[in-house]
Amino acid sequence: MPKPESIALIGFMGTGKTSVGKALAPKLGFRVMDVDTYIESHEKRKISEIFDKSGEAYFRSLEKKAVSELAQQKGLVITTGGGVVLDPENIQALRQHALIIALLASPETIYERVKSSKHRPLLQKEDVMAEIRHLYEDRAPLYQAADLKFETDGQTPSQVAQIIFEALNKRNSV
Ligand code: S3P
Repeated sequence: MPKPESIALIGFMGTGKTSVGKALAPKLGFRVMDVDTYIESHEKRKISEIFDKSGEAYFRSLEKKAVSELAQQKGLVITTGGGVVLDPENIQALRQHALIIALLASPETIYERVKSSKHRPLLQKEDVMAEIRHLYEDRAPLYQAADLKFETDGQTPSQVAQIIFEALNKRNSV
């Protein structure tokens, strides 16, 4: 199995995609590209402002465009937003060059990681745990589309990156 041309990290909010991507990319000699950051730099405004002023559907159209552009490149670790799996065409686009890796975590772990975050528009709710459970129920099956899956409960991003790196090396040597 040759080294993948790119890697795409998918997973629910708070599974550590961005931090794991930053730690993983240099191990592979890849550049990290975060879909949300890419959108923010093109739009010149924050994701929360895009949701607020233009709505989720508009955000999803920007997300789809960003994914289709980044998916054409090689040598990237593409870190995605938790909702990227809602549109199957995003996953199809990422598959052009990327091995798709899902980061998994329990709703309780996710809650602990995101509870004080102010930048996630979908979680600006009174009952954050209930919202996580609700979204999780819809989305958990979609992350199963990944080629490889890793549990992140109880692990730091650098530990997860190392585990992924070792799994990729093992996979490449068979
Ligand atoms: C979203 C997750 C966010 C961001 C946006 C929507 C989602 O990214 O793309 O707020 O639908 O789950 P993170 O997964 O990096 O928090």
